[in-house]
Amino acid sequence: MDKVLLTRWFWWILLLPFVFAGARVVQVIWYDPSALGPDPAQALVDLFGTTALWFLCAVLFVTPARAVIGVRWLTRQRRALGVACFGYALLHWLSYAGLLLEWQWQNLGQDLLNRPYIIVGFLAGLMLLLLAGTSNNTSVRLLGRRWRILHRLVYPAALLVLVHMFWVARSDYTEVILYSVVVLLLLLYRWRYSAKST
Ligand code: HEM
Repeated sequence: MDKVLLTRWFWWILLLPFVFAGARVVQVIWYDPSALGPDPAQALVDLFGTTALWFLCAVLFVTPARAVIGVRWLTRQRRALGVACFGYALLHWLSYAGLLLEWQWQNLGQDLLNRPYIIVGFLAGLMLLLLAGTSNNTSVRLLGRRWRILHRLVYPAALLVLVHMFWVARSDYTEVILYSVVVLLLLLYRWRYSAKST
């Protein structure tokens, strides 16, 4: 398939979780209030958070995919995957601020005391913002060698996301442990691979 066409298709695929969430919201508002479960606001926050995590895993999967399985086309989509990860993290934050906090910033202090994991998530979100904001060609050119150093922020960002998730899970840790194993293996591979190639 033509490279430009593939890239365009890829962007549409990245939008699928957003379309899915939008369809569910329409369903909740117009004809099925239970379409997102008993707490639609919470469900939406969780859905966007989990999608951001999936895209983070996908970004980390690009290097082993190329080196181990020989899937090269994914390398060209790394930037799109990174932007999608940040985009869904932003939607996660927006749905928290809009639906759970209801834009009542005077309640933020109390909420942070009740759910300190939000601070950890926020720090991870800031790192993702820096990564997404410098993922364009101009930044790569302007930052030179420093660009690679800056993009090592993906390691602390991913670790903070894991801490955020462990803190959120109150009783059943099975899912978080599974995600952690996947993320840690991918981080380890990427770290060893970049150590070898420098
Ligand atoms: C930007 C600031 C962030 C805020 C304010 C925030 C807030 C929250 C909140 C309120 C929850 C729900 C807790 C609950 O279920 O009671 C949550 C869960 C979660 N967040 Fe975040 N978060 C942030 C950043 C991130 C980032 C950057 C990621 C991933 C890239 C992420 C991934 C998740 C995941 C995977 C969950 C668990 C979802 C589930 O239980 O199914 N969060 N976050």
